[in-house]
Amino acid sequence: MHASIRFALGGAAALAIGGGAALAQSQPASQPTDGHGLAHPAIWPKYHYPVPRDPAVEAKIADLLKRMTLAEKVGQLVQADLGSITPADMKKYHLGSILVGGNSGPNGNDFSPAPDWLKTADEFYLASIDKSDGGVGIPEIWGIDAVHGHANIIGATVFPQNIGLGAMRDPALIEKIGAATAQEVRVTGQEWTFAPTVTVPQDYRWGRAYEGYSSDPKLVASYVGAMVRGLQGPPDKPNLLARDKILASTKHFLADGGTKNGVDQGDAQISEKELRDIHGLPYGPAIENGVATVMVSFSSWQGRKMTGNKSLITGVLKDQMGFGGFTVSDWNAHGQVEGCTNDSCPQALMAGIDMYMAPDSWKPIYEDLLKRARAGTIPLSRIDEAVSDILRVKFRLGVFTAGKPSDRLLSGDWKILGSPEHRAIARQAVRESLVLLKNRGVLPLKPGGRLLVAGEGADDVSRAAGGWTISWQGTGLTNAMFPGSTTLWAGLKQAVTAAGGSAELSPDGSFTKKPDAAIVIFGEKPYAEFQGDRATLALDADLTGPYATMRKLKAQGIPVVAVMITGRPLEVNPALNTADAFVVAWLPGSEGGGLADVLIGDKAGKPRFDFRGKLPAAWPKTPSMADGALFAFGYGLSYKSPRTAWKPLPEIADNARDARVYFAKGVPAASWSLVLGNIDRADEKRITTVPADAIGGRAHVTATDAAVQEGARRVEVNDGGAALAVSSHDPINVSRETNGDVLVLFTVKVDKAPASAAVALRCDGSACGSRVLVSLPANGKYVRYGVPLKCFAAKGADMTKVTAPFILETTGPADYSLSEVRLGSDAEQVLPCG
Ligand code: BGC
Ligand code: BGC
Repeated sequence: MHASIRFALGGAAALAIGGGAALAQSQPASQPTDGHGLAHPAIWPKYHYPVPRDPAVEAKIADLLKRMTLAEKVGQLVQADLGSITPADMKKYHLGSILVGGNSGPNGNDFSPAPDWLKTADEFYLASIDKSDGGVGIPEIWGIDAVHGHANIIGATVFPQNIGLGAMRDPALIEKIGAATAQEVRVTGQEWTFAPTVTVPQDYRWGRAYEGYSSDPKLVASYVGAMVRGLQGPPDKPNLLARDKILASTKHFLADGGTKNGVDQGDAQISEKELRDIHGLPYGPAIENGVATVMVSFSSWQGRKMTGNKSLITGVLKDQMGFGGFTVSDWNAHGQVEGCTNDSCPQALMAGIDMYMAPDSWKPIYEDLLKRARAGTIPLSRIDEAVSDILRVKFRLGVFTAGKPSDRLLSGDWKILGSPEHRAIARQAVRESLVLLKNRGVLPLKPGGRLLVAGEGADDVSRAAGGWTISWQGTGLTNAMFPGSTTLWAGLKQAVTAAGGSAELSPDGSFTKKPDAAIVIFGEKPYAEFQGDRATLALDADLTGPYATMRKLKAQGIPVVAVMITGRPLEVNPALNTADAFVVAWLPGSEGGGLADVLIGDKAGKPRFDFRGKLPAAWPKTPSMADGALFAFGYGLSYKSPRTAWKPLPEIADNARDARVYFAKGVPAASWSLVLGNIDRADEKRITTVPADAIGGRAHVTATDAAVQEGARRVEVNDGGAALAVSSHDPINVSRETNGDVLVLFTVKVDKAPASAAVALRCDGSACGSRVLVSLPANGKYVRYGVPLKCFAAKGADMTKVTAPFILETTGPADYSLSEVRLGSDAEQVLPCG
């Protein structure tokens, strides 16, 4: 019965979410209904922005404004991504800032060693202050997503993601984390972090929920001031660069965590009161602690894109709440504003955006703004105002007098990057963030015995670190990219052996000598932004394998402790039922030793540290939060909690899954794989990371942009035949859909048409029915084709045992990009059965 509930939810919601996210990205929002999304600033609170206005600085700004050309002023308003700009461009255009997106790095290498970052910082700084063209040479500043430590950089301390910090309830430690992060950023020469995220997620199906401290606005607000102070220092102390500080940015203004169904970049369909009291609350302490910048959200409120919403950016944030720094837009978010494109959007400036994050669109944006400024269609007063706000922050930072990045305090002091002191702070945070949901007396573990550590991800830092770690998605990483870190396994082993016991790592739970206890580590894999959006609060089906391991160990009389790595509360009832103790570790980062500190007791079996983590958001009873909470916000046991009876929870079959989406936004859905082989299935290869070569080098697979970034997989085949499949080991039953008029939908862009193409299915691992010949002309645009499931059934396929609902077979050279495969009826073009 539960499986069917889940099926219904998964199916319908998955389609809604997939469609919504794609819409938000690919099309500008339609014009909102009159009056919708317009705020009433007078009902919002006023705050005091405590950064003093120094008359000497104001005079310098006035003087600069007099001397700067219009082109130089416009340059200040634009920020480019490192991957799309050179120092020569900087010398010519004098942009206000560069950023490094999640997938960029010096020399086009996301994995560049730390010294390269500092060297690149010097190059851009020196280019920006170059006056050989007769300009004034305003120093640029470099923004980076140091969102859980300086985690873009190899060797840095990786702190727990914000959801884990929310569990700690420890603002004092938050300030220390901010201070440590600022120091590490300073080592590699950047001046500005796009943190803290002060989102207040209301729907944990959102792929960014882990970036928020809590669903509770008061808890978030209690952290914000501390984090801003940790990063920037006290608001009345100028010259951050003379100290060990950097600029902070609270994001994403406003209600990024309030979108309907938790859709990333979606629409918050809420009242102005909710907007203010839930999502607006954390901006109070940010402003009162002098946060230097605010990043405006991709999302909409009542159908109106935030980035173009003057009533909120200017009316509420600046005029009413008194924010006195500058605003920056998000990654090409201006292109989503009603009436805008990535290349042109004066609306954003007029709404109150001071700096455009125009990663690859910086040149057209710059040229468009300049043209309009020269034509007088953007008032000069607005440009001067935005430039002044940016310059004021730069003066406060001290960048005019600091010299080049490598000459500044802490620069190149590599021992600060991942220093023992910073790692100790992170380890304390790990310890404090652990939430104990169940303990039938098995914890703390006595260290003298034999411990088995099973499950996935026990010895994998990237799994513990989540998205926004070295790479944007936090994927494609090895432990070698985290020098000096401690995996959860390594920490456990160290604690146990130090006390004279023994520990064995065995992912599948097999062992030679029976252990005294087992820890089974399981949970989510890294993701970022919309790639983490889910249809339900169920753990992805392909991640539930460790449930069986837990059962197997229990059946052998071994006490089992489940440790969950996760970015959000999810329905994991089978693990909660089976394990004797259940610990949520969230996304702990590089200092896994904090887990052992709490789980492994002293020699006498007494705790060395107690649990103090409390749930930062409610834990669901079923994959639908509508069914209520199993554990309320604030729940969390400690070693002092009285033991209570465990009432078994309803379980959902492990193999239940979202039945209708197999491949979305360029990645296989949970439990599905993208496989490339010859037409006869020889030489098959699972495409897990890209770029990848397959079928003896005849085919090359890369990531390419579709409706969303990296939203498709591009397949280039040299010659011969190739078969691209979305497949799984476990068959699905689509007989019901076959009887209805459901189609296999696949969205593909063909750049070079194959000599011939066919869509096929696989049932129980082998070809079934016969293929449907299709014609896929090369027209260079994404088309959602549909093949009726009936076509395959009519040709003898067993639709109850489908292991690959989509195989695209081609002959001859071909070049195509696949973005989505799912079931549905909304094809742009239905292909005949042939
Ligand atoms: C994210 C921001 C981030 C920016 C730069 C955007 O896509 O929404 O949170 O700061 O990229 O990487
Ligand atoms: C960038 C991220 C950015 C994202 C926006 C990625 O390509 O690396 O920094 O947040 O695009 O969608």
